[in-house]
Parts: sequence; C-alpha cells; structure tokens
Amino acid sequence: MQPLRTNVSSLNGTIHVPGDKSISHRAVMLGAIANGTTKISNFLTGEDCLSTIDCFRKMGVSITQNGSEVVVEGKGINGLQEPKEILNVGNSGTTTRLLLGILASCPFHACLIGDESIAKRPMARVTKPLRMMGAHIDGRDHGNYTPLSIRGGSLEAIQYESPVASAQVKSAILLAGLHARGTTSVTEPHQSRDHTERMVRLFGGEVVVDGVTVSVTGSQQLTATSIYVPGDISSAAFFLVAGAIVPNSEIVLKNVGLNPTRTGIIDVLQQMGADIVIENVRNEETEPLGDITIRTSELKGTEIGGALIPRLIDEIPIIALLATQAEGTTVIKDASELKVKETNRIDTVVSELRKLGADIEATEDGMIIHGKTPLKANGTIVDSHGDHRIGMMLAIAACLAKGEVFLQRPEAIAVSYPMFFAHLHSLIE
Ligand code: S3P
Repeated sequence: MQPLRTNVSSLNGTIHVPGDKSISHRAVMLGAIANGTTKISNFLTGEDCLSTIDCFRKMGVSITQNGSEVVVEGKGINGLQEPKEILNVGNSGTTTRLLLGILASCPFHACLIGDESIAKRPMARVTKPLRMMGAHIDGRDHGNYTPLSIRGGSLEAIQYESPVASAQVKSAILLAGLHARGTTSVTEPHQSRDHTERMVRLFGGEVVVDGVTVSVTGSQQLTATSIYVPGDISSAAFFLVAGAIVPNSEIVLKNVGLNPTRTGIIDVLQQMGADIVIENVRNEETEPLGDITIRTSELKGTEIGGALIPRLIDEIPIIALLATQAEGTTVIKDASELKVKETNRIDTVVSELRKLGADIEATEDGMIIHGKTPLKANGTIVDSHGDHRIGMMLAIAACLAKGEVFLQRPEAIAVSYPMFFAHLHSLIE
C-alpha cells in the first residue's frame, strides 16, 4: 500500500511523457513480420509492451532493447517460428488481440495465456472473425477467454462489420488480411484509433480508408523502417487533468502524440473551458505530435458520447475526476466498452471516487457526475483494482484531498507508465 501525496498547493514543470503504448506494440509487431531491421526510438518500456517483445522472441525474432531504443530483426511473416513455450501476454489486451491476428496466418500452433484480468476479457470479438477467415482457434468458453490456442494457415479475405468500435478488433483482422487471399475490409460503427493503418503504410504496405471502412489486400510484403514513437496522450491525460484542477498550476507536456483519433481528451478539456495551448505540431503525415501547456482552469460540466467515445476511451477514468471539479453536471454515455477494459471501469471509477467524496453515479453505459465537489480523505484506502489507469487517476485525485490517502496495488501503474510517480513528484517539489 502506498501513501499518496495530498493537499498539493501547485503543480509546475515540464514532463516528457513516455512513448505511446498502442504505437510501441505495433512497431514491434510490424517490425517482426517485415523484412529487414526496424529501429524504434522512444519505445514504451511499460510491462504491456515488454510482453509483446517477449512473445515475438519466443517465436524466434531477434529483438534487442536498450532502454527506449529497440531493434527488431524482421524476417518476414514466414520467418516466425512455432513457439516451444506458451506465449504470456501478461495484462495486455492489445498484445493478445493483435497477436492472434498475426498468428492466424502462421502455419503452426501457439498457446496464449495472460493474467487474471486478461482471463476475464472477451476474445470472441477477434476469434470469431479470424475463424471466419480460416484460423483454427480454441480456448475457454469456445475461444472467448484465455487460455487460447491457435493454429493458423492459409486465410480467405472477409468483409467484416464490427459490432464495436475497437482498434484491437480492426487491427487483428487487418493484420490477418495482409496475408489472406483477396481484399479484407473492416467496417466500424465509429472510427477507432488508426495507428495500424498509418504504420502499415510506413512499412510500405497499402491500406485503403473509406469513411469507417478500412481495407487491405493480401500477400503484402512489409519492409523494415525507423520509427520514433510520440509520447502517449493517454499518459499525458493524467497531467493535463492534474494541471487543470490543482490550484496555481502550469504544466508543459512535450512531444505528445496528437493523432486525431486519440485527441478526444483535448476536445473535452476545451469544451469544459480549460486553459490549454497546443504548439509546435509536427509530423502530421505519419503520427502527429506537439507540445501542450495546461494551466489551472475554471471548468464547466459537459456531455460526452457517440463518435467521441473511441477517441477518448482510455481517458474516461481521468475525465470522471475532471468532472468532479467542474461546475454542473457531466454525462458520459455510449461507453459500455468500459466494462471490458482492464477492470469494469464504470464500477471501479464510481466506487473509488465515491470513497473520496465525489458525487458520481454509474449508468448502464457510462456515468453521471455532479460538480464541483471538494475531495475529502481521512486515512482513506483507495484501490487500483490492478488497473493502471485507475491507479493513476486516484493518485491525481489524492492531490486535491485534504486528509491522508493510501493506494492499494500501486504496482499496476507500471503497465503503461513506470515513471509516473517520479514525474508527478517532480511537479510538486
Ligand atoms: C488499443 C485500443 C483500445 C484501447 C487500448 C489500446 C489499441 O482498445 O482501449 O488501450 O492499441 O488498439 P479497444 O480496441 O478494445 O477499444
């Protein structure tokens, strides 16, 4: 159990948030199935991305990692070898689902296992379309949960209408589609993050985007490249909210990824009246990034739903905290996907923020928050529930609380932001 910093009078300074998790996973995966040597810099050394590296090493791919510099020796999709050991995906949904997409076309057997949280996350959303393409997949509850086993082989293209806006589902199908016969397409209810599409192009592949439909034609060869991973806007989000709600604050966040499929948090901050400035935007062709300054702000409640949800799905826990410090009511709807994240984030956000005195209620597909509420504590014990984003949200919430707060299971934060507490404390001291 970790004591959290409370009653913080200001947050000031500059942070370089670590590399983007989604992009780091994809850089290793595409590097592994491309031909040649891929160099990745500013790679996220969080546990999730290390799980991805570990799985590809077990399939014979040589990967060297020196801090945030990673070199992947790709030998093409046919260069992957049947793993002798079980592939351990840890806590990572992205590793599980995208890896299944790659394995679907590999003519060998592999077993996937992960932690307790992964064992509860639905996998039928990818195993169903991959089976339609020709992969043989089995697992608990007919292939809906880990442990899973897969035997890939030759695949046929499909035209898939995804019931959910999920980049993991879309990416798994597109990665399989790169090696299928014919043209595979995925149509989503709303556009999800498009890192796979952008990165396949960077590796010389062809992807066609038409509104919410993305297509790839099979038998594509990818060529190794160099990748700089921008800072993760989902990690920056904790400091964006902290800067807006802690008094007397000014925080500069450098080199933050600004891919428009991920910037819903910025739209919401602006909608709520935050004092936020974005500068030095560059690299718009591949993965845009820029610097963001946030200052303490007077905030008002807002409504969040529809196409905005996939653009900020991982930021909803910290947006809920933001809303407790805004005047009026904030409604978050159309977000039932929160129930199948690392935890049921509707339940964990509501129960943990209530412990600190927030006026928040769960709904079927989101939550309703009334503000502005002072956050209180008196030796209060809050719990990450093993979910990195719940842990970080609670550490920021504690900054506003007057009494003592203790965090259970703080180690979960290392999944996406190993330096989180060092960065937070550098803004206080
Ligand atoms: C991710 C997609 C999102 C997101 C997750 C990372 C990705 O999940 O929540 O943290 O890298 O593709 P879904 O595809 O389940 O929405």
